[in-house]
Amino acid sequence: MSLRLRLALLYTLLLAGVLAVFGALTFVLVSKRLYAAVDEGLRAEAEAVEQAIGPGDGPLTSQRVLESFQRLSQLANELATFYVLDPSGQVLYSSVRGPALAPLPRPQEMPGYVTYRSHGQGIRLYLDPVVGEDGQVLGAVEVGQSLRATDGALSEIRNVIALGGAVALALTAGSSYLLAGRALAPVRRLAALARYIERTGDFRRRLPEPATRGEPKELVSTFNAMIERVERTLRLQAAFLADSSHELRRPLTVIRTDIDVLRSDSLPPEEQRACLDEMAAEAEAMGRLIADLLFLSREGEQAIEREPVDLSDLCREVVDRYREQADGHVLVADIEDGLWASGDRQRLAQMLTNLLENALDYTPAGGEVCVSLSRSGAWAELRVSDTGIGIPPEELPQVFDRFFRGREARAMRPQGSGLGLAIVRHVAEVHGGEVRAESEPGRGTTFTVRLPLLAR
Ligand SMILES: Nc1ncnc2c1ncn2[C@@H]1O[C@H](COP(=O)(O)OP(=O)(O)OP(=O)(O)O)[C@@H](O)[C@H]1O
Ligand SMILES: [Mg+2]
Repeated sequence: MSLRLRLALLYTLLLAGVLAVFGALTFVLVSKRLYAAVDEGLRAEAEAVEQAIGPGDGPLTSQRVLESFQRLSQLANELATFYVLDPSGQVLYSSVRGPALAPLPRPQEMPGYVTYRSHGQGIRLYLDPVVGEDGQVLGAVEVGQSLRATDGALSEIRNVIALGGAVALALTAGSSYLLAGRALAPVRRLAALARYIERTGDFRRRLPEPATRGEPKELVSTFNAMIERVERTLRLQAAFLADSSHELRRPLTVIRTDIDVLRSDSLPPEEQRACLDEMAAEAEAMGRLIADLLFLSREGEQAIEREPVDLSDLCREVVDRYREQADGHVLVADIEDGLWASGDRQRLAQMLTNLLENALDYTPAGGEVCVSLSRSGAWAELRVSDTGIGIPPEELPQVFDRFFRGREARAMRPQGSGLGLAIVRHVAEVHGGEVRAESEPGRGTTFTVRLPLLAR
């Protein structure tokens, strides 16, 4: 059974239970009140009849009834049905013609109120014994009333309750089925889309978001965000694979060409050597590329060694190594002492090297490159800034992507894989840190790496 049907049934059953309890309660209370009113009326009538007979000694006799005949006849016009009985149960006076309403037992045997029902008709009787001063039963007054009106009213009330209940139940069943259907519609659409994706592997479709806020909207937007992410990951992976293959094919082509050249017998020895050197360099580059790709594919703890690293010492070492190469650039270092981090010294050195090489590569001769290391709370802040070509705003969000190379950067330095900054970010992240870039095209760029300091 569908969830929708189950919800609708549950609501309807609940309402049916509540209606049944309240309906029965109402019916019982109302019928009690109505019957009590009938009994009250009967008692008052009996009293009126007794008063009409008037006080007297000894049992009721035809003589006494005759004496009060006028008053009794007057009452007979006003009241429904009454009898005056002698102590043996003989009818002395009857307000109606014809046989008695119900069999008349002896007064002594008769309980106060009694209901007779025959052929669907009900009669309520009240027998009021006339008792003398010494407690002796002198006779009785019996009053009766048809219950037709009361029973009719009660059956009307019962019909109204049943009909109203049935209408309420039908309305509830219908509306809860509709509402449950509407509330569950996003879930149905979501399941359909999930089935479609599972069947086709096509992640481009999205679900329309419901207009009203609430759980369904949240579910749909979370689902959309999830498939968006899956789609992006798949796209990036495909691009990564294509880019990696492309990057590896280039040195391979160079090596193949060199092999072809080497095969010709007439090659002078110095050209042979040049070919071999080129092959060695390309093989070296390929090896580096493969190592970089492998490193980028490793996550978290498995990516790095963990040991205390003197960042201040490491920065000085890297900067000193580049001071000689930085011909034509001004290389400034401002390094605070005694900053330690926990991590992989080699990878951290590679991170700074990549940043420093970029700064030198993309800053024309005469420009300034500055490396600074300082403490900022519980963090070490490593900053590499230059006065170079800068990064256009539309390229800035992509510079950390694998294989991304800027347009101007390509023109300035044709070789390069575009993995440098991807490695920088990966190193920062596996050390529990982060990196960000700020740049003004034509004026310069600053990369800031934050790494958690080692508490010593
Ligand atoms: N200091 C900088 N100044 C200007 N642009 C920069 C700077 N650093 C990085 N970029 C931009 O970011 C891009 C990506 O840099 P990344 O180091 O990842 O690759 P690359 O330097 O092009 O190649 P390689 O893999 O050899 O490092 C560069 O191509 C360049 O457009
Ligand atoms: Mg680079």
